[in-house]
Amino acid sequence: MSSNIIQKFDLTIFGATGLTGKEIVSHVYELSIDLPSFFKPGFRWAIAGRNEERLQEIIQELTDRFPKATIEQPSVLIASVTQREQLDAMTSKTKVLINAVGPFRFMGEYVVRSCVDNSCNYVDVTGEPEFVERMQRTYHDKAVANKVTIVHSCGFDSVPTDMGVLYTKNLYTQHGWVPTQIEMFLRIHTGPSGLRGGYATFESAVHGFGSAELLREIRQASTLKRLPRLEAPKLPFHKRVTRDKELGYHVPFVFADPSVVRLSQQIFLTGLATTEKKKPNVTLPPTVQFAAYLLLPSLWAVILYTIYGFIFSVLAGSPWGRNLLLGHPELFSAGLFSKEHPTKEQLNQSSFEIVLRSKGYDHALTPGSNDPPNKEIKVVVRGPEAGYVATPRIVVQCALAILNNKHEGYVPSGVLTPSTAFWETDLIDRLRFVGITYDIST
Ligand SMILES: NC(=O)c1ccc[n+]([C@@H]2O[C@H](COP(=O)([O-])OP(=O)(O)OC[C@H]3O[C@@H](n4cnc5c(N)ncnc54)[C@H](OP(=O)(O)O)[C@@H]3O)[C@@H](O)[C@H]2O)c1
Repeated sequence: MSSNIIQKFDLTIFGATGLTGKEIVSHVYELSIDLPSFFKPGFRWAIAGRNEERLQEIIQELTDRFPKATIEQPSVLIASVTQREQLDAMTSKTKVLINAVGPFRFMGEYVVRSCVDNSCNYVDVTGEPEFVERMQRTYHDKAVANKVTIVHSCGFDSVPTDMGVLYTKNLYTQHGWVPTQIEMFLRIHTGPSGLRGGYATFESAVHGFGSAELLREIRQASTLKRLPRLEAPKLPFHKRVTRDKELGYHVPFVFADPSVVRLSQQIFLTGLATTEKKKPNVTLPPTVQFAAYLLLPSLWAVILYTIYGFIFSVLAGSPWGRNLLLGHPELFSAGLFSKEHPTKEQLNQSSFEIVLRSKGYDHALTPGSNDPPNKEIKVVVRGPEAGYVATPRIVVQCALAILNNKHEGYVPSGVLTPSTAFWETDLIDRLRFVGITYDIST
């Protein structure tokens, strides 16, 4: 039995032939040169997908590009999402699987189920709340029983924000203060070459808008505790374009982060993020009110966003509209999404910045009190281009955090979000090493 465990791959990257998957593989090669101590001696890994020839070509290309890599070449595993035996063969040989096969709402469940059945820990790069919340509800108990950790949204969606919220809450509790509200503002910086997102991401967004009703049904049926009303002034939510004195124009953030933060808070509140061991100075994070916004650089950007956003949301509401959107990603996204890969210049010139503006009290909340908050902390999370540079770095660190902390009892089992899986690990320190930084701002 122990020899089986020894022979498992530490890490398998599934979907390695995709745009994101290949960048993840490439980052592992690069990391083994820049930070070789991140890999234990004898680290064994594999890349997986359904096309053996392309997987071998990727190994050849990356071995040539990174001759100084300090880890062995990966093995190749053949698996298609639709072939259960192939998935089981892959997951039963793996300690931690990175899943980069999307859209996840169509292909993710088979992989999650196989991981839970075969006790293979799992991280993915999904930004699809309906998929995440469905998996949490369906597989959490079995994952706990099998001592497996399944963590969704371990890419740009939603590690910077979800771990940033945790980081901010911890700053309050370290001072003996109580946080009650956090506002998140995302700013994307681009260079002269502009920015382009991948087609699979556009596809995920189209189906995400189309399945809002399903998400509502999943939430209604959820057995997780509801977030309580806090004894503090209500955090207003700006549904329309608003101009913030400090940060500029912003609109509601329509991507996964608010859903993930909310799910994290519910998982903590329900007591599902329990680790086998406890670190001495780590306490369960308190619940806060949360609102998220996208910052836009100018009034012209606001006008474009409003027009394109309106057309997108109308079309995404019907099957024929979704087909139209999927057939013409560039037309309906002002060139922001395309079947063409983003160029090196676009990736190099782009970066993200997330401002987390929080308020709270230097004393415990008292029932009926409507005192204004008397403490404020601003945290800024920064990193390189979100989709194909930051995401590979983040998801690899999430996988390594499981590999290094799970056997020590500091990673809970279950179907979890980033902050509920990694709250007792060194993930934020690890992310700093690869250029995703969390800082207090004045
Ligand atoms: N969270 C984030 O910030 C973030 C960032 C980037 C991407 N993503 C998400 O990551 C996902 C992938 O995006 P991408 O741009 O990399 O897409 P992509 O280039 O189209 O890659 C898709 C991958 O899935 C594989 N695949 C498709 N059907 C399969 C099947 N039946 N069995 C096994 N593998 C299958 C493809 O394999 P073949 O090569 O054999 O077709 C390919 O490796 C999307 O859902 C996207 O939204 C998230």
